[in-house]
Amino acid sequence: MELTKDLEEELKQLYEIFFESLFHVDTKRYMSFMTDDFKQIGTTLEEVWFSKNESGKYLEKNVGPVAGKIEFRNRDINMEAVDNLMVIIEQADCFVNIDGIWAYYDKVRVSSLLQKKETDWKFVQQHISFPDCRTDQGQTVALEKITAENIQLRDAVKRRTVDLENTNQELENTILKLKSTQSQLIQSEKMASLGQLTAGIAHEIQNPLNFVNNFSEVSAELVEELKVERSKVDGKRDEILEGELLDDIAQNLEKINHHGKRADAIVKGMLEHSKTGSGEKELTDINKLAGEYLNLAYQSFKSKNEGVDIKLISDFDPSLPKMEIVRSDIGKVLLNILNNAFYACTSTSISTDPSKFDIQNSKFDIQKKPQVTVTTKNSGNTIQISVSDNGLGIPHSIKDKIFQPFFTTKPSGQGTGLGLSLSHDIIKAHGGTIEVTSEDNEGSTFFVILPVQKNH
Ligand SMILES: Nc1ncnc2c1ncn2[C@@H]1O[C@H](COP(=O)(O)OP(=O)(O)OP(=O)(O)O)[C@@H](O)[C@H]1O
Ligand SMILES: [Mg+2]
Repeated sequence: MELTKDLEEELKQLYEIFFESLFHVDTKRYMSFMTDDFKQIGTTLEEVWFSKNESGKYLEKNVGPVAGKIEFRNRDINMEAVDNLMVIIEQADCFVNIDGIWAYYDKVRVSSLLQKKETDWKFVQQHISFPDCRTDQGQTVALEKITAENIQLRDAVKRRTVDLENTNQELENTILKLKSTQSQLIQSEKMASLGQLTAGIAHEIQNPLNFVNNFSEVSAELVEELKVERSKVDGKRDEILEGELLDDIAQNLEKINHHGKRADAIVKGMLEHSKTGSGEKELTDINKLAGEYLNLAYQSFKSKNEGVDIKLISDFDPSLPKMEIVRSDIGKVLLNILNNAFYACTSTSISTDPSKFDIQNSKFDIQKKPQVTVTTKNSGNTIQISVSDNGLGIPHSIKDKIFQPFFTTKPSGQGTGLGLSLSHDIIKAHGGTIEVTSEDNEGSTFFVILPVQKNH
């Protein structure tokens, strides 16, 4: 078939009307230009319709809402006859009306196949698509645009990286702040345990000082008596009495010296304990350390809790090897565990106060005397220090929490809840562990397990 001028004109008009009915969603008219088996293909893979009915339905549903709001401009329409078919290829700029303003949307390409059916030309096939919107005229691939997009992307990634770095810096600052707060807390905990120690030591020191004061006062009186005796005329002086007075004075001086030395030893001990955090490891006799701290902790506890009476039992394994440890730190651990034990077994003694306790309904043995046992054991590769009390035990529900910093069940102001968490850290730093067993109303046992260094 030949494409005559007339035919071209006829087809152009038909083509125009087809698009007019499409843009204005005049479905009936639009469909009247198609063969029944009209096939239409859109831009995306799903946009394929196999009959004029399907195309009509699509028009109503999807083009309907934008009726009158789409226009093709700068249309470039080419026609060609291929056998008995007409091929019309159009390229145009698609414009859309947004809020009354026409705006460029994209390039559009339409390929249509028309065939003469009886007297009229009908659309047999059509492909309408928006080609790669990044490609300009004369380009196959929009390299420049893609490059520009990549640069934009890279910039975005850079910005994101900077943002992330800033966030990271903020996090690091927060961690630094937390670390310094933590070390301040550790410092104040050191001061607190030093305070406890001091209370115990003050109590211990009071005793020898009382002796020193009393014996020196008595000795001063004896000296006065001796002076009186010596001022008497010869013959009246009782020389035997003088001898006895001198003997008493000598004995008293000996006692003053003995108690003075005791006070001296306690002060030296206090100075040693005040050297906390030096971190120096020393070869230590754990049995001796445990014994010392048991006494110190008990004195300290008694000085703060008038009238308490706890039975102390110690059972030390003589085969324990000397251990390379930070004395003051392990001392702190013992002090806290012992303190907790004293507290646990004496808080049941409230039960002995009938005004505060319903004896009839009590599950507790009100006669139970508070008791704390400290044992040491050589297990070959490890040594174990255990502290048992016969208190109320640790409720199952809080067992997991007792090593957490600030966890305490003591009334406010009485405990910081740092004791066990610090103890845990100290023992961990020594390569050891702390374990706990507990039974309701029976008591608890804390085990400090330290590895034995084989070279010692
Ligand atoms: N021997 C024990 N018997 C029963 N409960 C215990 C015993 N030892 C510890 N606990 C529980 O564990 C909690 C935490 O102990 P931790 O030593 O860490 O803090 P604290 O003793 O409450 O306060 P701080 O030691 O700072 O004075 C205690 O409040 C108590 O509830
Ligand atoms: Mg404690």
